Amino acid sequence: MGTSLVKLAHSIARDFLSGVEPLYAVDATVGNGYDTLFLAGLAGASGRVFGFDVQAEAIARARGLLEKNALSGVADLFLCGHERMEDFIPPELSGRIGCVFFNLGWLPGSDKSTITKPDTTLAALRASMRLLGGGRCMLSALCYRGHAGGQEEYEAVESFFCETFGTAFDSFSDLANKVSPVLLAAKFSS
Ligand SMILES: C[S@@+](CC[C@H](N)C(=O)[O-])C[C@H]1O[C@@H](n2cnc3c(N)ncnc32)[C@H](O)[C@@H]1O
Repeated sequence: MGTSLVKLAHSIARDFLSGVEPLYAVDATVGNGYDTLFLAGLAGASGRVFGFDVQAEAIARARGLLEKNALSGVADLFLCGHERMEDFIPPELSGRIGCVFFNLGWLPGSDKSTITKPDTTLAALRASMRLLGGGRCMLSALCYRGHAGGQEEYEAVESFFCETFGTAFDSFSDLANKVSPVLLAAKFSS
């Protein structure tokens, strides 16, 4: 389910943001770099991706993936919490970011000791809303509910989406499974 929701988030972004140029995007949770790679491909040579992760291993894996795909030149990766994204994204791009992706939880293939937390995730979501703008915009958050603290983080993120977008966002999950991952995605113009 998680993997198919990753693909769904990519497909929504590809459809909605196609033709946006230059596209500036943020990967708030770089992890293994698959979302960073996707966003770098979408942004292309005219745009830019800014990626954040608190684990050096994640940044290294993502750098390797970008290099392998000849897209290193499109992305700036920061070993830093996403709640500080505004300290690193050039101020002239504030209000001009087209897409922010969150893929919460832990780094796949790690010891799971470092996971995203509601307080910093909410701070980063608020920062994202200050950065997004300039036309078509998308905010996407893939939440995992099965681990300790996952349900609470999901509820905090869902409340943020409700407060920010009202009913104007989509939620995708396996309705038969109360702990399945949930993708929250808002598309808007600003
Ligand atoms: C599920 S993984 C991301 C998967 C990634 N998007 C991909 O395509 O492979 C979640 C990541 O969030 C990172 N993380 C945890 N707290 C963070 C924070 N405050 N800021 C940025 N990243 C954080 C973890 O280190 C982990 O690598």
